[in-house]
Parts: sequence; structure tokens; C-alpha cells
Amino acid sequence: MPDVKPTNGLRQVAATRYVTPFREGGSLPGLVEADDLGMYVLKFRGAGQGVKALIAEVVVGELARRLGFNVPEIVLVDLDPALGRSEPDQEVQELLKASGGRNLGLDYLPGSFDYNPVVREPSADLAARLLWLDGLTLNVDRSWRNPNTLLWHRELWLIDHGASLYFHHSWRPERFPAASYRFDAADHLMVPFAGPLAPVDAELSARVTPELVREVLALVPDKWLAKDEAFGTPEAVRDAYERFFAARLAGPRTWVDELEAARAARV
Ligand SMILES: Nc1ncnc2c1ncn2[C@@H]1O[C@H](COP(=O)(O)OP(=O)(O)OP(=O)(O)O)[C@@H](O)[C@H]1O
Ligand SMILES: [Mg+2]
Repeated sequence: MPDVKPTNGLRQVAATRYVTPFREGGSLPGLVEADDLGMYVLKFRGAGQGVKALIAEVVVGELARRLGFNVPEIVLVDLDPALGRSEPDQEVQELLKASGGRNLGLDYLPGSFDYNPVVREPSADLAARLLWLDGLTLNVDRSWRNPNTLLWHRELWLIDHGASLYFHHSWRPERFPAASYRFDAADHLMVPFAGPLAPVDAELSARVTPELVREVLALVPDKWLAKDEAFGTPEAVRDAYERFFAARLAGPRTWVDELEAARAARV
């Protein structure tokens, strides 16, 4: 897959119009238009999973992009809660009210639809890469029931990384990072299609350097990280995520062996 040039930072836009909610999404994301005339899928800070889900979207989405996956552009979206004044749905109105200020947007891919690997089989290489990415980042939200992968212009696009890095919802400095994390790949979208994990693991684990992890963490707004009560300062929080990645990538990577076992059991 082609390498994508890293951006220096996330672009910032301001929402100018709330268009419609996405009813499929558990977190009630909304379609908004912004002052650059772009349309974005807005992930609200005030939604159930809160700011941690937005942090996971940035960290995992931008990491995926740098590993060659297609990911819609991620932007920071400034929201004036008054935009929801004429919104008839009370649930949406409350979400807008609770999310004034900075939220997260994904470039809206018009005409895209949920990817179904049975209809259009992925290459064994791409399937293995995606399985590896989700294993690394503990993304438990890419099953065949809920693929969180779109087909757009005949290519796969990754969305919805808000449920990954799930440990950060309850981490504690004195027992972090944990020695192992639960990751059940049995239902993963790509398990039936993935080729051997070993070559993909050798390549990708070498590409996720501490520098790359830091580059991605630098894109997360300090204000979001400062809300974390477990680790005092934004830098301490970034440091904790860095330690997670370092520990997960240090050999032996038993999680990769587990992915390989799940794959071998299915093919
Ligand atoms: N960038 C995009 N372009 C087009 N459609 C999108 C985009 N992002 C999301 N969608 C659509 O909106 C739906 C909900 O988005 P998403 O999965 O990110 O929200 P969620 O609330 O986290 O969902 P979940 O129910 O998986 O927890 C997706 O299933 C998809 O149909
Ligand atoms: Mg989703």
C-alpha cells in the first residue's frame, strides 16, 4: 500500500450547519457542514463515551493512516451549541448543548457504504494488516456485524476507532500498562480472509517506532488529555499511551500469536 505523508497537525474548522444525525451510530454522530464548505461526520465530546473516544479516534486513526490504510481526514471542529436551537430531536439538542467548543470530525465520504468482505473479498495481505492494527490498538469494534469499514471509490476506508485503547477508561498509574489485555479476534471482520500474520507483524511492528507514536500523540489536543484524572498533565497522559505501545510491541508479542491462532482456525 502507498505511504501517506504525515500531516503536521489536524486542521481546524468551525461547524456552520447541523445537517442530520446518523441513526446507525451508537454515539449519535451527526453530519455537519463547516466554514471550509466541507461536510464532516461529527463525533461529539458530549456523547456517551466522552472525550476518551475522541482521543482514540485521533491516535488510532492517524496511526492507521501512517501505516498506509485509507482513513478519512480527521479535523477538529469548533461547535457553537446554538447550532442545535432549531433541531427538533431533544436527544440531539442535548448532545449539541453538551459539546460546545472543540469536537472531532471525519471527512464525509459521500456514496460510501458498509464494507462487506463476502461480496468483495479483500486481499489476504490487507486483511492481515487490518487484523494486526486492531490487535495492536485493542479495537474491539470491527466485527462482521459492525464492520466500521466503508467501501468508497472501490477501496476500503477505516472509520470509528472510538472503542479502541479501551484500557484508558479505567487506567491507574500503579498498574499500567497491564501485562496483557483481552482481545477476542473470533468475530473480527478479517479473520476469515487474512493471510499469515508473521510477515505483516515483522513489517508493521518495525514501522510503529516510538517517534511515530509520539508524532500521533502530539495531534491530540492538550485540553482533551488534561481531562484525564489518572495522570495529572497532558504530557503524563501522552507518556502513558507511549508506554502502552512500547509494551505491546516489545517481544514476544503473544497477542500476534493469538491472532494467528484465530486465523488458522478459520481458514
Ligand atoms: N467519514 C464517513 N463518511 C461516510 N459515512 C460515515 C463516515 N463516518 C461514519 N459514517 C456512517 O455513520 C455511521 C456511524 O458512524 P460511526 O461508526 O463512526 O459511529 P459510532 O457511533 O461510533 O458507531 P457504533 O455504532 O459503531 O459505535 C457509520 O456506520 C457510517 O454508516
Ligand atoms: Mg460504528
